[in-house]
Amino acid sequence: MQQLANKRILLGISGGIAAYKSAELVRILTKAGAEVRVVMTQGALEFITPLTLQALSGNPVHHTLLDEEAEAGMGHIELARWADVILIAPATADLIARLAAGMGDELLTTLVLASKAPVFLAPAMNQQMWAAPTTQANLQTLADLKGDDFGLFGPDAGVQACGDVGPGRMLEPVDIAALLAKRFQAGVLTGKKVVITAGPTREALDPVRYISNHSSGKMGYALAQAALDAGAQVTLISGPVRIAAPDRVTLVNTVSAQDMLEASMACMGECDLFIASAAVADYRPADVAKHKIKKAGDDIQITLTKNPDIVATVANHEQRPTTVIGFAAETNDVDGYARGKLASKRLDMIVANDVSRSDIGFNSDDNAVTLYSRDGHQDFERMSKSLLATKLIQAFAERLSNTQLLQTEPDNGQ
Ligand code: PMT
Repeated sequence: MQQLANKRILLGISGGIAAYKSAELVRILTKAGAEVRVVMTQGALEFITPLTLQALSGNPVHHTLLDEEAEAGMGHIELARWADVILIAPATADLIARLAAGMGDELLTTLVLASKAPVFLAPAMNQQMWAAPTTQANLQTLADLKGDDFGLFGPDAGVQACGDVGPGRMLEPVDIAALLAKRFQAGVLTGKKVVITAGPTREALDPVRYISNHSSGKMGYALAQAALDAGAQVTLISGPVRIAAPDRVTLVNTVSAQDMLEASMACMGECDLFIASAAVADYRPADVAKHKIKKAGDDIQITLTKNPDIVATVANHEQRPTTVIGFAAETNDVDGYARGKLASKRLDMIVANDVSRSDIGFNSDDNAVTLYSRDGHQDFERMSKSLLATKLIQAFAERLSNTQLLQTEPDNGQ
């Protein structure tokens, strides 16, 4: 069920006895890495409490269309846009009829109308109600209207809560979750944990000044988005930048190289792929003045001391991630220095970036790089950082998968 990682699932619950199983469904979906927001019909409130579902999903539960407090938080239109998919389990005959009629008489039906997300129903009702021509006609209407963006999970057949025997029982939560997972493509990093450093560091001289560089964070943030798109769980350790982080990353804000190192160390043991795209200051002022340094004389001496090397520390860590990638920002002999850093920092791959050009590298929207490993190199011509990030993530994922494959192959002693 790794395909569910990072997916935003709006789980609708309508009023049927099977609603008690929805709690287990929330648990399974969140365990698979999905973010779940629950919307209940008024009928559902009779069967299960919002508090249970709130505790399991970790998010507030929505059940009222005209609720001032909820609208001030995530309003209904926002909620409709937020969802990657709408799953309604249980879906009663009444709810199906209201959906087919295009009604917006309560929050859940309104959200279905207002959302572009595909809708999947796990029906639950008495077998006679399931067989009723009106129910079947309503389902056909929904299938005709929504096409590939509509699907049914179940129902199951057997003994029903009312004593009848036949089709109409809601599928078990684990089966519903598995069917939903099949609707999503698995990405090249599905189920993998990726940590990315991005942006500059700032090394304080005194309370008002610092040493830094021109990194905007654009390259690292694009990599974070591409890794998310490839299905990874992403932690983005960022220096101070002016751009917004992608929606679903775990963002850790840092300032200095020391902060960035500590944040990186906190991820060890929980990381498959580490990507160091941050422009980390190699040196910091040996002493940080307590008060603003005053103007005095024509020259001033500042003693700098070496910062820890974050990516080298990660690559030499006892809980080293399977794959460690560095970047090399150079203005001359780009390839020579990049190859040197690949070896000296014990990296699996390094991305060589010529930062002497103004059209690529620092702060620009485009980049052109060469990716080195010990086996060879690959050139990436100038393109948007976003497209480049997608291509680089593909290459890093391939490397990760090959290494993991080698690590799991049995040693036959040859
Ligand atoms: O942020 P943008 O404006 O989009 O610009 C992108 C970029 C130019 C910053 C990016 O593409 C890039 O090249 N990042 C690496 C910058 C850098 O610090 O390179 P370096 O050659 O000095 O460092 C080599 C590697 O060691 C890097 O992976 C760096 O993150 C890492 N390092 C360096 C020093 C240090 N103390 N700790 C480190 O981890």
